[in-house]
Amino acid sequence: MDTRYRTSLALWITLAATAGCSSSSNKSPADAAPSLRPGVEDSSQVFQGAPNAHESAFWAAVRDGDDAGRAAAVSQLMADVQDDPKNGYSEFLIGASYSMPPNAVLRALADGTPIQPALPDAAAMPYLKESLSNLTDPFYLGFAGGLLGVAEIVSGDTAEGGPTLATAASNNPVATRLMTVISDLVAQNAANALKDMYVLVEYCNGGPLDHNGGGAADYVAKLNAGGAVQRECYSGYFAPHGSSGEMLLLADLQALNGNQPAANAYYRALQGVSDYSTWALKPLAERRLSGAQKADIATEAIIPATCVTCHTDTLK
Ligand code: HEC
Repeated sequence: MDTRYRTSLALWITLAATAGCSSSSNKSPADAAPSLRPGVEDSSQVFQGAPNAHESAFWAAVRDGDDAGRAAAVSQLMADVQDDPKNGYSEFLIGASYSMPPNAVLRALADGTPIQPALPDAAAMPYLKESLSNLTDPFYLGFAGGLLGVAEIVSGDTAEGGPTLATAASNNPVATRLMTVISDLVAQNAANALKDMYVLVEYCNGGPLDHNGGGAADYVAKLNAGGAVQRECYSGYFAPHGSSGEMLLLADLQALNGNQPAANAYYRALQGVSDYSTWALKPLAERRLSGAQKADIATEAIIPATCVTCHTDTLK
């Protein structure tokens, strides 16, 4: 196994062990500073910010699968936050970018070739910390806190990381639950991954779902209509294939748990996702449905950990 991948597994396993810890810490960075974007208190439904040109360039590059463009945008954002250390959204984007593997990983997933995912990088930590003290929006506090909590645990600081993650989970349950699913998969615990994935999708659905795949098409219709509980549940500008990524993961987790009829119900429902026909991983989904490439517990974590699975619109 590739060395980087092995190291990455160890890190995520540590996370899996720690993420379950409850915390009594109520320390909320939200108390510290006013929002950078006044009036924006919760963007979990709709993006409400007014990104500057460099922040917009970052997202354009992510959507376009343009690694060089993303690197250039991040350099620019780094210069910007030197000039304005209160720009929490730019700080958050720099921090998040460290977790985003290059598009070669997405290409390999699409083609079915072996993959070497990128590692979480401790260099993200100062940016994520700064963003936490400069933003008040719970959507971003939960996201940045989740990424920071992972980075803290990875760096060996579990005393900080556990509470950071617990606070993050209360701020943004969707972002942090996806991180939990990833850590379950890295620990090769398919049962927990499926259980945690249903916690995520039932939160998104606003109520119970049939755990045998019944009602899958109705759930997809809800995602297509943008009717789920918060925007991280379905595709949008920032994650043009979020719904597809989520449905593939749900289907794969059923397959890994031996429930092939449920898996097939989700693979089929996935074809009804409105962005499916232009998704980079459509070939992978088709190999799943035909049986040509079965889901594999040893590598499944790479799919959700590859942020661009959901965030890149088209591969160039
Ligand atoms: C299963 C699909 C999926 C995966 C995998 C995924 N995301 Fe997302 N992400 C979403 C969706 C959906 C949204 C909300 C999109 C929207 O509003 O357009 C989102 C939103 C975001 C946002 C907030 C955008 C904004 O400024 O409002 C960031 C940052 C982000 N994701 C980073 C990441 C990172 C980093 C990873 C990898 C560790 C990742 N995502 C993996 C689906 C995903």
